[in-house]
Amino acid sequence: MNVRQALSNGTQLLRDFRVQSAEIDAELLLAYTLSRERAKLYAHNEFPLTLAQRRAYKELLARRASSEPIAYLLGRKEFYGLPLQVSRHVLIPRPETETIVEIALERLRAGGSQKPRIIDVGTGSGAIALALASNLKKARVTAVDISNGALDVARENARVLRLAQRMRFKRSDLLSEVSGPFDLICANLPYLTNEQLASLPSDIREYEPRLALAGGPDGLYWYERLLRQLPSVSEPGTRLICEIGPNLRAGFEQLVQNLLPASTKLAFHKDMAGRIRVAEVQLASM
Ligand SMILES: C[S@@+](CC[C@H](N)C(=O)[O-])C[C@H]1O[C@@H](n2cnc3c(N)ncnc32)[C@H](O)[C@@H]1O
Repeated sequence: MNVRQALSNGTQLLRDFRVQSAEIDAELLLAYTLSRERAKLYAHNEFPLTLAQRRAYKELLARRASSEPIAYLLGRKEFYGLPLQVSRHVLIPRPETETIVEIALERLRAGGSQKPRIIDVGTGSGAIALALASNLKKARVTAVDISNGALDVARENARVLRLAQRMRFKRSDLLSEVSGPFDLICANLPYLTNEQLASLPSDIREYEPRLALAGGPDGLYWYERLLRQLPSVSEPGTRLICEIGPNLRAGFEQLVQNLLPASTKLAFHKDMAGRIRVAEVQLASM
């Protein structure tokens, strides 16, 4: 079997299993198997695959056919222009989460803080923390997660991207193991309701960590706890920028009203699909 045949057979197999991006995925998996760039697959497509390559490709196709996400098969995903390693210990970073990074960069640049102190709570692969560290050369970035498996992935990403010197990784249940104050607190905590969890497509439900998805009965379990802890690591002006589901706006607003001082400012922002995705909280006084 040569490259051309492998691509055509792989695409057909994935189509038979109703994989939506069958052609692209077959290309990506073959390029990964052959350690070639995807764009260069077509240059010498008459090259025969070795037996080991055929076996490896077949195995990857079978895993993709049973819904395993392509990012886990390739072990990587791009986020805010950074090539990140991912494993099944971490949520695959989503494009909508880049909204947090954009707002955070805007605020920090406008605020003029020379060495902003930032924390990313529930860092997973390190996506938000790494994107901020790579764009703010003087920032000190702390990244926490409750999962040691996730922290190992995040640390490795920081090492590969040469950002580890300005970053600190720590196992912590939300903010319980860190002391502030921070200028900026970012968080993409699990926010799916039990009902949403039950109706997830199988590629997410069966492969991504439940610890990264489940937000309790109303989706706000973790954010309620975080908002209660917030004053202990804040000073006047500290901002929390966090990702929520579009369905959680009213509930989040209620939590802010119940748990934080009346002077607290609250705004919501949309993602690129036009859906409410980010809540921004600014503490005026303690
Ligand atoms: C939705 S994922 C977000 C991962 C990453 N920040 C991103 O945006 O791709 C949520 C993360 O929060 C972590 N997490 C869940 N409960 C936590 C807790 N109590 N304290 C700290 N991290 C927690 C999970 O392990 C997971 O890595």
